Formats: sequence, structure tokens, C-alpha cells
Amino acid sequence: MTMETLNIALPKGRLGEKVYELFQAAGYDCPALLEPNRKLIFENEAAAVRYFWAKPSDVAIYVERGAADIGVAGKDILMEYTPDVYELLDLGLGRCRMCVAGFAGFRDDGARTLRVATKFPNITRDYYAAQSRPIDIIHLNGSIELAPIVGLSDVIVDIVETGKTLLENGLAPLAEVAPISARLIANKARFKFVGERIDTLCRRIAAIREQECSK
Ligand code: PRP
Repeated sequence: MTMETLNIALPKGRLGEKVYELFQAAGYDCPALLEPNRKLIFENEAAAVRYFWAKPSDVAIYVERGAADIGVAGKDILMEYTPDVYELLDLGLGRCRMCVAGFAGFRDDGARTLRVATKFPNITRDYYAAQSRPIDIIHLNGSIELAPIVGLSDVIVDIVETGKTLLENGLAPLAEVAPISARLIANKARFKFVGERIDTLCRRIAAIREQECSK
């Protein structure tokens, strides 16, 4: 019996390349993927895998709707959009933190509605709702650090990786909202058909991660 092809959505960019190295080490290689071109789909028929390069924030959409069987998405995206997918494994890659940030001396005295700029309105709403703190969400698409500097917001909720962007703009992390890392996700319906293959892949990847962690 021929093996059914596993469709895998990877986040385009540096994280996706690291994720691919992990999949490659686990036995799911696809040499064509490393060719320097702008193609978005690559297949290794012998290994029965097909990879897609998707925009990182779109990977969960491909997986939720079954265009990909599995994929790799940041925990930030999963928290923000809560797609109806299985979250199978923390890959330990792309580690960073979702933080509240602003001017180092900023104190929220609670006197008025807090203006918060972010790319993640749902995460932000949940975080402040849990503290019963009324906020005004300013939904931006990028360069969030600019907002407090020019007086658009009091603070921001954003990803902090090295902290360099904050530092170089005179800002600092004020509180951690959640730790973030890349997660392996799977389509729920497709899991019924290719669940065994996905299980095998998960076990192999988890074994490699353990080896790396014990080094
Ligand atoms: C992300 C994030 C921060 C920055 C954090 O931005 O929104 O701006 O990286 O990284 P650092 O702590 O290592 O400096 P991204 O590069 O995705 O661009 P964006 O401005 O479009 O959000």
C-alpha cells in the first residue's frame, strides 16, 4: 500500500528553516526545499511529504481548514486566533516572550483608561480583563514600539525576543504576559486518516529534542 502524502505548512523565514532542519533530522527531508528559488511548494515523493512555505501568521489557517495536515505556528498566533487544531508538541524553537512594555519608569496608577497598542488585541483583552483593568486597544500591524514614543499609547503588548528593539528605542519590558515558542499543530479531521504518520513524526521529533536538550 502506498503511503498517503503528509502535507506540512512551515512558517516562511528563519524559524521555518530551523523547523525544517528538525524535520529533516527526523527523516522527513525534501532536498528541493533548500534550492535558492521562490517556489512555495516542495515535495519528496519517496518520503511522501509535501512542504508549503506559508506566511507565519497564516500557518494555522492552512492547518485548521485542512489544506495542510500539520504545521508549525507560534504560540502567540495560537493564543490570538485560537484556531480549532490539535496542539501536539512544543518544538522549543523561536522562544520569546509576550510582554507589556513601555517607558521604564511608567506606573499605571489606574486613574484613567490605559491605552495599549498591539498586534494582538485578543491576547491583550484577555490579559487586562483578568486584572479587571479597563483598556483602550489600539490595533497596529507592526513597529509597535513607536506607539508609546510618539504618545499614541501608554504601553504596548508585543513580542520580546532579544529585547534589542525595546532597548534601542528607550523602552523596557514591564510585565510578562506569556512565554512563546513554536508549536506543532495538526488538523483534527485529517488526524483520523494520517494520525499514525503524525504520531511517528511527533515521536521522532520529540526524541531529537530530548537528545539536544541533554547535550
Ligand atoms: C518583532 C516584535 C518586536 C521585535 C522584538 O517585530 O514585534 O518589534 O520583533 O525582537 P527583539 O526583542 O529581538 O528586538 P518584527 O520583527 O516581527 O516586526 P514588526 O515590527 O512588523 O512587528
